[in-house]
Amino acid sequence: VTEPSGYAGPRALRELLDAVLSVASDLHPELVLQRIITAAVDLVDARYGALGVIDEAGSGLSQFVTVGIDQSGREAIGELPKGHGILGLLIVDPQPLRLPDLNEHPDSFGFPPNHPPMRSFLGVPIRVRDTVFGNLYLTDKTTAETFTDVDEELAVALAAAAGIAIENSRLHSRVQEMAVVEDRERIARDLHDTVIQRLFAAGLTLQGTTRMVAEPEAAARLQQVVDDLDVTIRHIRTAIFGLEVARLHGKSLREDVLLVIDESSRVLGFAPQVRFDGPIDSLVPADVAEQVVAVLREALSNVARHAEARSVEVALDAESELILTVRDDGVGPSPDGVHGNGLRNMHNRAITLGGALALTPGRDGRGTQLSWRVPLGR
Ligand SMILES: Nc1ncnc2c1ncn2[C@@H]1O[C@H](COP(=O)(O)OP(=O)(O)O)[C@@H](O)[C@H]1O
Ligand SMILES: [Mg+2]
Repeated sequence: VTEPSGYAGPRALRELLDAVLSVASDLHPELVLQRIITAAVDLVDARYGALGVIDEAGSGLSQFVTVGIDQSGREAIGELPKGHGILGLLIVDPQPLRLPDLNEHPDSFGFPPNHPPMRSFLGVPIRVRDTVFGNLYLTDKTTAETFTDVDEELAVALAAAAGIAIENSRLHSRVQEMAVVEDRERIARDLHDTVIQRLFAAGLTLQGTTRMVAEPEAAARLQQVVDDLDVTIRHIRTAIFGLEVARLHGKSLREDVLLVIDESSRVLGFAPQVRFDGPIDSLVPADVAEQVVAVLREALSNVARHAEARSVEVALDAESELILTVRDDGVGPSPDGVHGNGLRNMHNRAITLGGALALTPGRDGRGTQLSWRVPLGR
């Protein structure tokens, strides 16, 4: 008696259950992807498997996690596929796709040199909530000529479980991130509430003592210590300002920007000027808004630490692009153009959103102008 086509027997169901359980969701997201594709390959007896993650534009692949080809094999093939040809079919039309021979499909580009030959093909999309996250690509069934109806159903079921595992793993990472943020905030609060208060009190006491000391040289030395304490307090305040990462109390980007600017005046010693242009709150999506606030915080903390400025202008313009400009009248950017972590982060935040960062001398060659721009209306 043969099983009717489309009927998954007990063995297959048990394997599916094993596969689903093996995809633990509290792992690092990368590991979750590796487990998913390994489970999928086992489940349908594929020789090769890959999990392609769709990029932000939704038109290509940003990640390609493979099974069945070892490290040296991967190096021999070279660059990872970008999502053209057969791989692209599932990106354009996220439906299960089964082919007896993928080389014969009209969309096939053929394989790059050193790529192992592959014939039978089964692809299924993975959805996370309602959006297509990526695809499972399975090739070369080892126990038959082609993948079966049952294989397809099993792969679809596994993809559904995979979507949930990926979402859980993302949530898990976010919770961990939040723990780090809370830790930084705790340190920042601690520095503020205890360390600064004590230094401040010590400074006041010394200041009082200075007046009681008759000998001019001793008095001058004490005064020097008082001044040093002031500088130290200023440094700690700047460090605190940099530590308070994503504290967004405001109801809108505009409010968040004003909050950061308000906080920064404590470390700068003066209040920056600020100008808004364009319908900022309606044009700027939440993920971009979050980046802008982080970039502004780093830019202002750089002014406080490096610029020796007496004034700062902050401008935020939103039209087809969002442009954040922070201009100071200080010493200007260092001529060797050295980038520390701060500038690198700002640069990366821009690149991720398809934008750019520029640090140039200010107007009339005085001071520094930081300009951070990203496209809007994606
Ligand atoms: N507004 C500024 N004025 C003068 N120099 C600046 C300014 N912003 C950045 N720089 C210079 O660029 C360098 C790199 O900055 P950054 O990447 O934030 O690293 P860090 O602040 O840790 O030194 C700074 O060390 C400083 O020399
Ligand atoms: Mg910095």
